[in-house]
Amino acid sequence: MAEPSPTAEIRQQVLDLREQIEAHNHRYFVLDDPSIPDVEYDRLVRRLERLEQEYPELDDPDSPTHRVGARVAEGFETVEHEKPMLSLANAFDPDEVAQFDQRIRDQLDLTELAYLAEPKLDGLAISLKYVQGRLERAATRGDGYTGENVTANVRTIRSIPLKLQAENLPEQFEVRGEIVMSRSGFAELNDRLKAEDEKTFVNPRNAAAGTLRQLDPAITADRPLRFFAYAAIGLDTEPGLDGQSAVMQRLRDIGFPVSPLMRKVSGLDGLLQFHQDTLKKRDGLDYDIDGVVYKLDDFDQQLEMGYVSRSPRWALAHKFPAEEAITRLREIEVQVGRTGKLTPVARLEPVFVGGVTVTNATLHNLDEIRRKDVRPGDFVIVRRAGDVIPEVVRAMTERREQPLPEWNLPTHCPVCNSHIEQVEGQADARCSGGLVCAAQRKRALEHFASRTAMDIDGLGSKIIDQLVEQGRVHDPSDLYRLSAETLAGLERMGEKSAANLVAALDRSRKPGLGRFLFALGIREVGEVGAQLLARHFGTLDALMAADEDALQAVDEIGPIVAGHVCQFFKEPANRRVIERLLGAGVEWQPEQVQEAQSQPLSGKTYVLTGSLQQLKRSQAKARLEALGARVSGSVSKKTDAVIAGADPGSKLTRAEDLGVTVMDEDALLALLNRYE
Ligand code: IVH
Repeated sequence: MAEPSPTAEIRQQVLDLREQIEAHNHRYFVLDDPSIPDVEYDRLVRRLERLEQEYPELDDPDSPTHRVGARVAEGFETVEHEKPMLSLANAFDPDEVAQFDQRIRDQLDLTELAYLAEPKLDGLAISLKYVQGRLERAATRGDGYTGENVTANVRTIRSIPLKLQAENLPEQFEVRGEIVMSRSGFAELNDRLKAEDEKTFVNPRNAAAGTLRQLDPAITADRPLRFFAYAAIGLDTEPGLDGQSAVMQRLRDIGFPVSPLMRKVSGLDGLLQFHQDTLKKRDGLDYDIDGVVYKLDDFDQQLEMGYVSRSPRWALAHKFPAEEAITRLREIEVQVGRTGKLTPVARLEPVFVGGVTVTNATLHNLDEIRRKDVRPGDFVIVRRAGDVIPEVVRAMTERREQPLPEWNLPTHCPVCNSHIEQVEGQADARCSGGLVCAAQRKRALEHFASRTAMDIDGLGSKIIDQLVEQGRVHDPSDLYRLSAETLAGLERMGEKSAANLVAALDRSRKPGLGRFLFALGIREVGEVGAQLLARHFGTLDALMAADEDALQAVDEIGPIVAGHVCQFFKEPANRRVIERLLGAGVEWQPEQVQEAQSQPLSGKTYVLTGSLQQLKRSQAKARLEALGARVSGSVSKKTDAVIAGADPGSKLTRAEDLGVTVMDEDALLALLNRYE
C-alpha cells in the first residue's frame, strides 16, 4: 500500500510541534523551568510521533522524537557514557502491563516470571563512576549518550559515598540512580527564595535539576538533595550477583541508599499488587514518585529480551495518574462557608487528573487569585494530589488569546444578598448575613451533623439543602422535631432511609459535652479545643458563665479563641438555639477526665523551636508525649519550657519576654534520657 502523502497543513503541524517541543525542552532541560505539565508535553510528543509514523517522509533525524533527553547546558564539561543511559517504555493501565508480561513469557517460554518492582522516582538520573572504591566522576544523563560532568556538585550530596569500605570490589564499576529533592526541603527552599525575592521552582524535580546544575557547588551543598541507586554496571563480577535484586542488595551492603520500597514479586498479579500498594504510599513519602518500574530480575533473561530503540524490553514504567493537567476556567463562583467566609471556586471544563474527572477546584481567596493572575476564560493548570481537594496552580497567561478582565469579589452575598465584609489586611472576605444567610445555615447544619460532631448518619448536604430551602429547618434543634413522614417526602429519600435517619437522630441525642460544643460551630473552636473546654469546665452552664480570663486559663486557649467563645455565648440567638436543642431532648454527657499525673511529664507543656541536630522535631515531640508531656505550638505563661535548637524563631523571644524557662537540645536529651 502506498504511503499517504502529507498535506501542506500536516507538514506545518509537524514543524509547529517540533518547534514547540524544542522550546519546552529548552525550558525543561536547560532552564529547569517548564511551563507546561508533563502530561501536556507527553501529549505533544505523542502527537508528533504519530504523525511521523503515519507520514514517514516527514520524519527527520533531528526531530525531538529521536532524542532521549536534551542538549547539555553550557558551563559543564561533557562526558560520554560508556553505556548509553536509556529510558523506559511506559504503561498507563493494567492491560499494557499484562501485554508486557505476556510478551516476555512468550519469548522466554516460561509461565511465571520473577521481577524486581521499584518506585519510579521523580528526579533526575545520574551516573556515578567508582575507580578503586572512590567516586571518580558523576554525570547527568544528558541526551543519553553524553551528559554533563557534575562531580563537584554530586560530591556535596551526603547520601552518596565518596569512598567505599567494602572488600572484593571490582577495580572499576558504575552506579546509576536518581537524585531527588525531598518535598519538605523543596518547600523550605522555595520559602527561602521567595523571602530573598528570587525566582522559585515549580516542583521538587526541577529544583533538584536546577540545584545539581549550579555552577557553584557551595549552593548545591546548601540544598537538600537525596540519592537512590537503581542499577549498577560491572558489579556482577561475583557468583550469585546474577540478577537485579541481588545487585541491589549488594549495593545496599556496600553503602548505597536503595529504596526500601523495592520488592521482588512474581507474575502479573505481583506487579499490579505492587503498583496498588505503592500508590497508597505515595502521599506519605517525602519525595515525589510518578509510578513504579518493573524489571525482569534475572540478568540472563534480560539479555535474551534485549532492547527496542531506546528502551529495554525487560523493563517497564507503570505510571500513576498524572496529578496536573491543563483545562479552561469557565467562571469563578463564590461559596459561602459556615462562618460566612467566601471561597472562590473555579468552575472548569471537565478534565481527567489524579485519576478522576475534575470540574471544580478551589482558588482559596482573592489574594491567591491575584497572585496567580487567574481570570475567567484562562487556561489553567489544575492539580489533584492524592485525596486532596483539587486546586488551580496557576494561569497560563501566555495562552490568553485576548485580554481578559480581572475577577472581583461580589459586593453582596450571592445567596442572601447581605453585604460582604472584607477586613483590611486579611485575606478572607465574609458574608455579613449570619444565620439569615441560607448558605451559612446549611453549612452550619452540615457541620453539626458531621461525623466528628453529632455524628448523624445519613444527613448529608443534599437532604440539608432541601430541608433549609423548604423552610423545615431553621436551626439544628428543628432536626430533632422532624417526623419520618416529612423526611420521606424529600427527594432521594424513601421510607426506609427516612426511618433510618430518624433513628440516627435519636442515637445522636446524648453527645459528650466536647462533641456538643464542637457541633455548635463556635469560630476557631475545633475538636481539640472543644474537648479541652469541656474537660476544664465540666458543665455547659459553667462554660457559658466563663469570662475571657477564665477561658484563657485553659491550656491552649488563647485570647482570640476566648474572645470568640465569649462572643458566641453572649449572642441571644445562639443561646436560644442551645435552649431549643436541650428542649428537643438533646442531653450532653460530661467528659471523662483523664487520670492525671500517671507519667513522669504529665501536666507539663513544652514548645519546640529552631532545628535540632540529633533528632527530628517530630521525634522530640513523640518522645516527650510518650512521657506524658504536651507539646504545644505556641508559647504562653503556662508553658513549662521552650526547647530551642539552631536558628530559633520568635518563640524564643516570646519565651524570654514571658520569663519561660529555655532549654537547649542537650538539656532536652538529658531530660528524655532521665525518664525513658
Ligand atoms: S531504570 C534502562 N529505575 O526513569 C533502564 N529508572 O524513563 C533505565 N527512573 O531516566 C532506568 N526511577 O531517571 C530506572 N527505579 C528506577 C527509576 C528510573 C526513576 C527514571 C530514570 C530514567 C527514567 C526512565
